[in-house]
Amino acid sequence: MREKIVAGNWKMNKDWDQGLSLVQEIQKIMSVEESNGAKVVIAPPYIHLAKISDMVTSSDWLYVAAQNCHQESAGAYTGEISASMIKSIGVEYVILGHSERRAYFDESHELLARKVKAVLDQGLIPIFWCGEPLPIREANQQSSFVNQQLSDSLFQLSAEYIRGLVIAYEPIWAIGTGRTASSAQAQEMHASIRQHLSGQFGKEIAEQIPILYGGSCKPANAVEIFAGPDVDGGLIGGASLSANDFMAIVRSL
Ligand code: PGA
Repeated sequence: MREKIVAGNWKMNKDWDQGLSLVQEIQKIMSVEESNGAKVVIAPPYIHLAKISDMVTSSDWLYVAAQNCHQESAGAYTGEISASMIKSIGVEYVILGHSERRAYFDESHELLARKVKAVLDQGLIPIFWCGEPLPIREANQQSSFVNQQLSDSLFQLSAEYIRGLVIAYEPIWAIGTGRTASSAQAQEMHASIRQHLSGQFGKEIAEQIPILYGGSCKPANAVEIFAGPDVDGGLIGGASLSANDFMAIVRSL
């Protein structure tokens, strides 16, 4: 059985107090609801990581992710934090290669390959992002484009290493636009990603890797999007900034 995961990517939102109250609201909702077996992952800005990690230690379904980390383990890299630092505060997940990191911070396939390795070396779980821009979708090249992203950043790793990975597929044209992939489009891409992983790492491992959908996922469309057999949850941006919306999406899964 593959894990089901809903991860909330806060991006650069929520100051200290706002972030802590959002987590408290999520915990309050969770305290009166049964876990449906899904893992819930919160990815706040760096400043919140240590505190939120402490707040969720007693939960068996709430986890924390960093939104990025540096590829080196330590050194003179002003402004950066390493995977081992993230590990040292009890955080379990790291989102890597989000389209915003690729676009605004020039993160290349090669750099991401190093970051994935750094994160896995620490026993952390990368949530590795992939997805295509609109012109690629319009040219119907999305599968080969995304497969290339995966090959370039993940295929240097051994199958055993890759076992711990989570993939997030987000069509860039759906991020923050209110436009989502249809359930059929999401399922088609997730199946194609799984097949590509299977070709490299074998079916058994590919079947274990959770593949999350992201891009304008909201309470109103989550049930439909999550319906596909290869859609194992979501990476949620805007809607993760409201505890009610975020938890409604968790419930949909
Ligand atoms: P969105 O963002 O849900 O606001 O579209 C998703 C993401 O970028 O992870």
